[in-house]
Amino acid sequence: MPDINIAIVGVGNCASSLVQGLKYYKDNKKEVIGLIHENLGGYKLSDIKAVVGFDVDKRKVSTKQKTIDISEAIFAAPNNSRKISDVPNLNASVYMGPKLDGVPEHMLKHPKDKTFDPSDEEAVDVVEKLKEHKAEVMINYLPVGSQKATEFYADCAIKAGCAFINCMPTLIACEESWQKRFEEAGLPVLGDDIKSQLGATYTHRALIQAFLDRGVKIISTTQGNYAGNTDLLNLSDKQRNVSKIVTKKSSIKSLIPYELEGQFYAGPGDPEKQYGYVDGKGDEKTAPIKIHGIGFGGVRVDVDATLTVDDSPNSAGVIIDLVRCAKLAMDRKIAGVIESPSSFFFKCPPVKLKDLEAKKRTEEFIEGNRER
Ligand SMILES: NC(=O)c1ccc[n+]([C@@H]2O[C@H](COP(=O)([O-])OP(=O)(O)OC[C@H]3O[C@@H](n4cnc5c(N)ncnc54)[C@H](O)[C@@H]3O)[C@@H](O)[C@H]2O)c1
Repeated sequence: MPDINIAIVGVGNCASSLVQGLKYYKDNKKEVIGLIHENLGGYKLSDIKAVVGFDVDKRKVSTKQKTIDISEAIFAAPNNSRKISDVPNLNASVYMGPKLDGVPEHMLKHPKDKTFDPSDEEAVDVVEKLKEHKAEVMINYLPVGSQKATEFYADCAIKAGCAFINCMPTLIACEESWQKRFEEAGLPVLGDDIKSQLGATYTHRALIQAFLDRGVKIISTTQGNYAGNTDLLNLSDKQRNVSKIVTKKSSIKSLIPYELEGQFYAGPGDPEKQYGYVDGKGDEKTAPIKIHGIGFGGVRVDVDATLTVDDSPNSAGVIIDLVRCAKLAMDRKIAGVIESPSSFFFKCPPVKLKDLEAKKRTEEFIEGNRER
């Protein structure tokens, strides 16, 4: 199969796990575990090639004097995702993008090894670089709250003829105006806000579905998220946090056909403080999930579970499928929202489905038996 050339916007922890993962599976052909699809519509992981990156951190972006390759930028501070493989030079430069609202003020108060350190370098012409590197699929990994920056890159994707995968909670795939723009440009768009492979949202939804399927009334439910990466540090500011709580809660609420009488929360930390950054915890995420219900005879049924997982590889396990779904849509000349994979792989998709139905439709899409 032909290569799938990806452009990475935001060379942070998720990008690091994705790029390392591509090499990891290339090196470990005999023991393929941890993938949803080894082969997706004929495309293998080895068909995915990172060709260009954009960032704003001085430790990650190329300057006039020095070129920084994606293979180098992914290991630069403040990235702290687990190292799963060495990555050789990919001949894929990371360029300075426009900062816009990507780096909030509150992030600049922290020690440099824990936070973003913006460069003074002039931004490149992003559309030109996308074309020069023959990028086909853009992955948006910008920090939560980067509304303007996300819109800027979505616009660049359209101008450069790239499909767009929106991994963060700014609404693009769910917004009618963006859906129309991608449709008119003949390009696929998938989003919004990635649902990790077996993350807090997927696990919480599975437990909620069990209560619903077994006739237990849900009274209250909460999901906390704790980690020591820049994603959670960025979310420690309540204003940056808003869109994440919206997409997280909407993913849970969309399953429950009634209003909850008790507490309902899904987001960083606990429902009161909404602060989930734990210094020194690195990229490990802990997500306590509680559900209180009433079952047969009015008797309580409670679940108190904790998910512990490395945050960033967990998201990469889904992106490698999304990249291939985007490419399949391009091969088949299907434009606009690619609904089924969006429903299965994102927290806040335009069409909200139960996970089993979303999986079934995604398989049908992959096999070519469903248009989108
Ligand atoms: N499992 C997961 O980790 C997971 C799950 C769901 C969603 N997400 C979302 O994916 C996004 C990426 O997560 P991450 O952990 O990689 O974040 P990160 O903080 O590690 O990386 C963000 C990167 O964006 C860069 N950046 C900031 N402003 C920029 C701009 N204007 N242009 C280009 N680059 C810019 C930063 O320098 C940094 O390298 C976040 O929004 C996160 O909420 C992650």
